[in-house]
Amino acid sequence: MRTLVTGGAGYIGSHVCVELLMRGHEVVVVDDFSNSKHEVINRIRRITGKSVEFHKLNLMDRKGLSKLISESGCKAIMHFAGFKAVGESVTYPLKYYQNNIEGTVNLLIAMQQTSIQQFVFSSSATVYGENDDVPFSENHPLKATNPYGRTKLFIEEILQDYQTANPDVSVSILRYFNPVGAHYSGLIGEDPLGTPNNLMPIISRVAVGSVPEMQVFGNDYPTPDGTCVRDYIHVMDLADGHIKVLEKKQEQPGCHVYNLGTGKGTSVLEMIKEFESATGCSVKYAISSRRPGDIPVSFAAVDKAARELGWKAEKSVSDMCRDTWNWQSRNPSGY
Ligand code: WQD
Repeated sequence: MRTLVTGGAGYIGSHVCVELLMRGHEVVVVDDFSNSKHEVINRIRRITGKSVEFHKLNLMDRKGLSKLISESGCKAIMHFAGFKAVGESVTYPLKYYQNNIEGTVNLLIAMQQTSIQQFVFSSSATVYGENDDVPFSENHPLKATNPYGRTKLFIEEILQDYQTANPDVSVSILRYFNPVGAHYSGLIGEDPLGTPNNLMPIISRVAVGSVPEMQVFGNDYPTPDGTCVRDYIHVMDLADGHIKVLEKKQEQPGCHVYNLGTGKGTSVLEMIKEFESATGCSVKYAISSRRPGDIPVSFAAVDKAARELGWKAEKSVSDMCRDTWNWQSRNPSGY
């Protein structure tokens, strides 16, 4: 199925594009390169051997967006484009509200003028907020605790309202836990601009030597080793989940919400040790104070996606570390 992929040059978007193409779908990528590089499109073509239609466009360009979508011949939209740094969102909330929310509304307005009836949204477990009732299931109370998380929450509400007003449309909301890893080729991977916020890219930058030492943000949490526990999921398992949703929910109008996680937790120190044993690298770290907003434990209830999509994550934490290192060691300075 011909699918429009916003943010298709980004970390998650590029891995989903590879999987879509390898499974016989067509993609039309829309990206403005605010947090990605054009080289990613070349790498997608190199991995798949397929042509990739690509448009450099910002979702604020309502005219350009409407023209592109009406002429795209797409049957579905997968929406990844959005700013995603929690700390930055606290400093610049309006930038996040405008880009993430107005961008999505512009996309929906453009979609409404076409016959496209399927929309898949990249949401996040951050919408579960500071909740200690783990594992988080899809019907857990939602309470975002930062502007980035609130954009995800508000967009979920907007999508519910949009689907209610357009009952023939199929909307799928996918709540990612902690995506990590890279395609096995090592040609695409996570390449955050500037200093990474997330754990895995910082571990891999210390391993490759571009960062001398990392900070472990607190070891006094109520967890087995005192460091925070998260549900890390391989980005290729995440991509597989998107294809399952695209194919199974194509003819199913409604608003469908799924967690995409493994249902297992790994602490910061465990991840560092796993990375060292999977790669043979050493990762220098120092314990520092807690990072504001971090919750002690987060992991997914995964039964709904298994039951309704026939999907579950297959790859291990060791696979995640190995594939991260394969990407980082082949691309020490990113793309
Ligand atoms: C994981 C753990 C840190 C860096 C966020 C967003 C979520 C999604 C993923 C966008 C925490 C610790 C980290 C470091 C550390 N974002 N850590 N030293 O905070 O669970 O989730 O990123 O899609 O929506 O909320 O992920 O990787 O930032 O942190 O000790 O240098 O690693 O304190 O305990 P998080 P993370």
